[in-house]
Amino acid sequence: MTRRRLDPTRVRIILLLLGVLALASSCGWNLWDNPMTTVRPRSDFGQLIDGLFMLISWTTLVIFIAVEGALLYACWRFRDRPGAPIPRQIHGHTPLELSWTVAFALVLLVIGIPTIRIIFQTQEAPAATALNVDVLGHQWWWEFKYPGLNISTANELHLPVDQMVAFHLHGPDVIHSFWIPQLGGKRDVVPHRVNRITLTPQVPGEYPGQCAEYCGTSHANMRFRVIVHPKAEFEQWVKAQLAPPVQPTDALAQQGLDIFGKSACVGCHTITGISAGQIGPNLTHFASRHTFAGSLLPITPENLVSWVENPDHMKPGALMPNLGMTSDQAKALAAYLLTLK
Ligand code: CUA
Repeated sequence: MTRRRLDPTRVRIILLLLGVLALASSCGWNLWDNPMTTVRPRSDFGQLIDGLFMLISWTTLVIFIAVEGALLYACWRFRDRPGAPIPRQIHGHTPLELSWTVAFALVLLVIGIPTIRIIFQTQEAPAATALNVDVLGHQWWWEFKYPGLNISTANELHLPVDQMVAFHLHGPDVIHSFWIPQLGGKRDVVPHRVNRITLTPQVPGEYPGQCAEYCGTSHANMRFRVIVHPKAEFEQWVKAQLAPPVQPTDALAQQGLDIFGKSACVGCHTITGISAGQIGPNLTHFASRHTFAGSLLPITPENLVSWVENPDHMKPGALMPNLGMTSDQAKALAAYLLTLK
């Protein structure tokens, strides 16, 4: 019995189709629904970049089709056939040379002029009415300070819709990059200089942000959430953030407060009226957030206990030390932190 040999052309076609299928299923069709998408802009900044992206994409698609079409036509029209003459040689054809030089200069103008215009538009100085937010990129979490409102929070950025926001980007340690894909950006956060990015969110909702510059062990875990509120809702949030922390009423949380006050926690964290540490996140309204540790972990009693017991295990490279607390102490501390609404 003879074995049939596989046709190499057929094998190649099957492999190619499988490759296309794998690519399509992994990323291709999910651009719109993906929360990290840049093709669904939700701010003026995002709209500008998206408009430019679309202009360049369509222009280059038309050029691609024209050039590949001409190439395929030439391959077919002048293919070698028995007895076919050598095609007419057009080397040094001045009108042709001129026409494609001018055509590509025009293409450069079509792409170049809007690009330069949008570079300037996205660098504009903020209006006097803009909400100022100081963004501090730390290894590996984000600190947001609202100087005009006297609010300091971490990993969760709250903004009012339809109001210009001026982000002032500070790098206390290494270079990071501030990026909220649906709102536009990104812009580097560089030590010893203050970069700025100004944008106006246009649609209320929740948008993920991510550090976009490799900055060490937990770079990938340096995320944040952006919540764009309707005006009145934002004002409520501001009011809640300005309120002093509530005194715990249950015994376990009270025990947690005692542990907090007597341990190294106070050296790094601020809780209004209790401590004034500046190294780690401000915890005054910790439980009003949904996530912690660079927005890596949802705020749950279990996650808090695991975090206090061994931060590095939860977020590799975390600068918060293991304070050697017992499981009961960690539980009490978690109960206290959860009262900080
Ligand atoms: Cu910070 Cu990457």
